[in-house]
This record gives sequence, structure tokens and C-alpha cells, in this order.
Amino acid sequence: SGGAHVPALVIGTGYGGSVAALRLARAGVHVHMIEMGMSWDAPGSDGKIFANTTTPDYRSFWLRTKTKQPLCSFLGFPLDKDVPRYTGILDAEDFGGITVYQGRGVGGGSLVNGGMAVTPRRENFGAVLPTVNAEEMYSTYYPRANAGLGVSSVDPAWFESADCYRYARVGRKHAQRSGFPFVFVPDVYDWDYMKREAAGTAPRSALAGEILYGNNYGKKSLQQTYLAQLRATGNVTISPLHKVTSVAPSPGGGYTVVIDQLTTGGATAATKTVTADKVFFAAGSVGTSKLLTRLRATGALPGLNDEIGRGWGDNGNVMCGRANHMWDPTGALQSSIPCSGIDNWAAGGAFAEVAPLPTGIETYASFYLSITKNPNRARFTWNAAAGRVDLDWQTAWKQPSIDMAKSIFDRINSKEGTIYRTDLFGLHKIWGDHLTYHPLGGAVLDKATDNYGRLRGYSGLYVIDGALIPGNTSVNPFVTITALAERNIERIIATDL
Ligand code: FDA
Repeated sequence: SGGAHVPALVIGTGYGGSVAALRLARAGVHVHMIEMGMSWDAPGSDGKIFANTTTPDYRSFWLRTKTKQPLCSFLGFPLDKDVPRYTGILDAEDFGGITVYQGRGVGGGSLVNGGMAVTPRRENFGAVLPTVNAEEMYSTYYPRANAGLGVSSVDPAWFESADCYRYARVGRKHAQRSGFPFVFVPDVYDWDYMKREAAGTAPRSALAGEILYGNNYGKKSLQQTYLAQLRATGNVTISPLHKVTSVAPSPGGGYTVVIDQLTTGGATAATKTVTADKVFFAAGSVGTSKLLTRLRATGALPGLNDEIGRGWGDNGNVMCGRANHMWDPTGALQSSIPCSGIDNWAAGGAFAEVAPLPTGIETYASFYLSITKNPNRARFTWNAAAGRVDLDWQTAWKQPSIDMAKSIFDRINSKEGTIYRTDLFGLHKIWGDHLTYHPLGGAVLDKATDNYGRLRGYSGLYVIDGALIPGNTSVNPFVTITALAERNIERIIATDL
């Protein structure tokens, strides 16, 4: 179809896109959201919407014929298996030096993530978003984001006795014996629901190991929060399995947006054109950066500035496991929702989540995802010969992250007389340094855009997702992405509509 005209078009339905769409819709603007992934609202062949982490099937990965699990082996056995090529929920997108995991579907990363909803410590905020007024963020926009997302923390009394958090209590004991601050980490999971799972009065989700390919119950993804409120306005159209391929100024004003409709096999079923007065790039750090880099280089949006594609970071993600003694079992039953962390940011540049290893058997393993102050930043560039966007991140750039994570785990290992696991990321490999869950940057605030996300060079084009954040948030990123989107869209609605 062609010729349709919409006042506001949002590319992507993750955190940034959902915030923008809700606030625009409430301001009376009809919003059209375009999402390349599926809608994830209908049960599959087994009666469930989402696949289990332990049994990945056609729903698990975005257009792959073999799974690419973050933990690729266990006790020396490879874990990956063949799956049918399908528009599944988790994309493991390979660049030269890093694999970037992302959610695909209506709800973006909220569909696949651990729900850890962390507000950075205020003293670290200046390094996270140097040009943003911290007072406004901590008095208005972080509270608004936390409320909108439904953030809360585990009941500390229940935590002490819950079988499914034995691994976290072992993590706390080891952290504290080595003198590290142990903190509870808030989450969007419904903690009362988890109690009912543990009591056997509700179907299991976190306690069935569900997470990477979606949670069937308990987790409040954006579908249950911002997107539910958005639908209630009646002022939105969402098109799943539609991928934006171009945005360019329209001769009659506004922007011409070219959209491919996808089949579940990943083929293009149709190509459509829409004209939009305003376009919000909310395709995630990688999605937005790839689009803008290509559109700038290939002549659709030549007036974008040279900051496009720059300032990308991995939030310093690095994973590792430790082998505990037999007297420190971590539990056969582990909640897939982490609830705690070790905060050594100030002294060692690392904030380590105590993560589950929900294998269903006792492993005596402690597993951690560390967020570190890695200073390296990569750049997206257009590779004309290959017809794709490249990212120049180097695998060796993770070394600072490993060193920072070691500031915690070398000390714990020496105190406990324990060693690192070497079987989780391939044979004899200690560090999961090949990936990130937290891509950030590529269209940085106040550089590629003005201080509210308006793209420099074009009026009516905005970035409103993780691409705005220059590479690191010191904690898990989605609360900051949401709060920044709340701040920016409030200003945009007040001044640009
Ligand atoms: P987001 O990636 O959410 O949404 C972008 C959307 O745009 C996607 O749905 C995508 O399909 C769509 N899109 C892309 N290109 C498009 C195109 N051309 N056309 C149409 N649609 C397009 N964070 C955290 O704070 N706590 C946590 O516990 C975790 N855990 C975690 C686990 C795992 C496995 C992952 C992969 C990620 C996390 N994260 C996390 C990270 C968090 O999910 C992430 O930072 C946010 O989802 C990013 O939000 P955005 O709005 O930037 O984009």
C-alpha cells in the first residue's frame, strides 16, 4: 500500500518507543508503531506463548538455524542445537568483535530481559548522561519511569528462606566475607506471583527457568505496563513483522518511510510507504544506529552530522562462573530472576549481578554478569562493498572489563579457596567476553542530537532509545532509557507539536 499519512511514526516498540508512543497518544496524537518482530500475544504449538530456556524451539532465536546461547557449553558439552529458521524472540546479532543480544517483538528487550530495574547511584549519573540535569532526573523522571514500569524488590524475609534464592544467599555470603557491599536489585517481576510459584499455587515461570525466550507469567514486560496503557488510549496502531528500511524527507513535507512486511521465515512479503510528520527512532541502540548510519551514508539523510554511529559501548558486560565447595550448594531450583548484586563500582569499576544458572540440577556453581566501567567506545560505519553497517568493536577491548570483574572475583576465590569455572563459554575459557546484553550509544544525546533527542540536521526526526546513552549506565540500562525518554518526550510534546 502507499500514500498513507500519519502524524507520528515510531520505529520500534521497546522502552524508548513505548514511552514516546504513550505520551504522544495521551497528548491526542495518533501514533503508528512499526515493529520488525512478532506480536507475542498468541500461544504456540504447546499452548504457551514463549519457549522455555532449557528447550529452545522455533520461537527462541531471530532467523537462525542453530541456537546461539550466551552460555554455550556446560561440563564440556556444547549446548546449542538446531532450530527452524523463524522470526523468534532473541536476536544474537554478530558483529566482528562482539555478539549483541536483543529482544525482537512488540515490547523489544522487555520480552527477553531479566527485568532488573536499577536506577544508577546519583553520584555516578554525571558520567552516565553528562548534559542532563540530574536534579530533574532524580526528582521527576526516574520516579516516573519506576512507577510506569512497575518496579519493586524481593521481600527480604521471604528471600532468607526461599529455596530458589539459595544461589543468591551463597553469593551474598561470599561477597560479604570478602568485604564487598551486597545489594538487593529491584525488578519488574511480580514478587507475589513468584511466592505463589514457590508455594505451588500458580504455574511456574521464573521458577521454571523461563527468561531468555520470554516469561509466560510473572514478569511485567512492556506488554503489561506501558503498552497496555498505550492500547487503552485507543490512539495507536502497532504493525508487527514490519521493518523500517528507509526514512527520507518527503517533497510535500514530513518524511517518507519505507517499510518491509516480513514473513515468519524472514522474507519480504510486501513493501509499503507511509508519510509521517514526525519520526521517532526507537529501534534500540543497534537498530537506530544501523539505520541512521546507512541513511546518512547512502543519501537518504545526508544532513545528519558526523556523530552518527559514534559513542557505542557494551555497558562493560562480562560474565564468569565460580566453582564452589560441596558445602556451598547453590540449589537445584533457581529463580531465573536475579535479585541481588555486588557493588564494587567505586573501588574496582564493577557491579556484578549474582545470576542464576537454572539447570535443574545442583551445580555448586556461582554465576555472575558484571557491568564494568569499560572505557572503550566503538563506531558504526557503512560498508558500501558489503552493503551493510559494520561495528569496529574489538574482542580485546573487553580486557578492562575482565580486570574490573577480577577486582571482585579474584578476591572472593582467594578468600574462599575456590576457582573459576572453565566450562561455560567453551573449553578452558573463564570469561564470557564475546557478548553484550546492554548495547548503548550510536546516536549520542547532545552530539548526534540536541539535548532532547532531536536529530541535528532535520526537524521532526528524533532518537528516543538506548542509542542516546554514551555507552555505559553503571547499572542495568532500561530504567535510565525509560527515564530519559520520559524527560525528552515531555519537552518534545510541549514545544514541537
Ligand atoms: P529495544 O531493543 O528494547 O527495542 C527496540 C525495538 O525495535 C525491538 O523490538 C526491535 O525489534 C525493533 N526494531 C529494530 N530495528 C527495527 C526496524 N528497522 N524496524 C522496525 N523495528 C525495529 N536491561 C536491564 O535494565 N535489566 C535487565 O535485567 C536486562 N537484562 C537483559 C537480558 C537480555 C538477554 C537482553 C538481550 C537485554 C537485557 N537488558 C536488561 C537490556 C535491555 O533489555 C535493553 O537495554 C533495552 O531493551 C533497550 O531499550 P530500547 O528502547 O533502547 O530498545
